[in-house]
Amino acid sequence: MSEEIVLQLENLHVYYGAIHAIKGINVKVPRGKIITLIGANGAGKTTTLSTIAGLVKAKTGKVVFEGRDITNKPAHIVNRMGIALVPEGRRIFPGLTVYENLMMGAYNRKDKDGIERDLEWIFQLFPRLKERIKQLGGTLSGGEQQMLAISRALMSRPKLLMMDEPSLGLAPILVDEVFEVIKKINEEGTTILLVEQNALGALKISHYGYVLETGSIVLEGPSNELLENDMVRKAYLGVA
Ligand SMILES: Nc1ncnc2c1ncn2[C@@H]1O[C@H](COP(=O)(O)OP(=O)(O)OP(=O)(O)O)[C@@H](O)[C@H]1O
Ligand SMILES: [Mg+2]
Repeated sequence: MSEEIVLQLENLHVYYGAIHAIKGINVKVPRGKIITLIGANGAGKTTTLSTIAGLVKAKTGKVVFEGRDITNKPAHIVNRMGIALVPEGRRIFPGLTVYENLMMGAYNRKDKDGIERDLEWIFQLFPRLKERIKQLGGTLSGGEQQMLAISRALMSRPKLLMMDEPSLGLAPILVDEVFEVIKKINEEGTTILLVEQNALGALKISHYGYVLETGSIVLEGPSNELLENDMVRKAYLGVA
């Protein structure tokens, strides 16, 4: 059985002025899977997600979503087509309540019943958010803000959920919790493109991974194989 590709990057090149940040990468995200992009600081992970989301322009190459060329389409169009981004550093609205933040994620939707059902689903995933429904986003702890950022993205019912370093800056116990919940979101049907410096956590929950170094993919493969790979173990898993 051939798998259906939701998102494909074809020979994508991105520049910031003279800086060649993405140097011709090819990535495939099949429906129903978690695909991860791992790499060190400055490798180009955020740039890749920003380009897909329509926040940064590609110079050449293509972004294809569900068979349609969406290269350099504006961010609101890309979002409306079904791609949601949880940005690096969890940018929630600090002056809005948890509930209002969640509703911002659903602003494109008109199906009231569906929105209600998704709220219940999110409160099952993150019971702590339910307890804090009226609290202002800015007064949540870092971990809770990350949960809110993920939940807000889920409220748009994305066909593809992209997450930029969701584990960054969290206490170890919360890191495990966030990876567990990402796995659960995927098992309940959402396709995920996950960017992480925490290679171990990301490879453990994903199906397939790409290793990005200074704008190029230097290695790719099934995540369980990457976990056993010597280069990955030395450079990204801290194994001597
Ligand atoms: N707005 C910008 N203007 C100029 N250069 C940029 C800009 N944003 C990123 N870069 C450069 O592009 C390269 C890739 O950056 P990017 O943020 O994509 O890396 P990253 O893999 O997400 O790193 P990190 O793990 O630190 O978040 C870096 O060399 C960075 O300095
Ligand atoms: Mg980044």
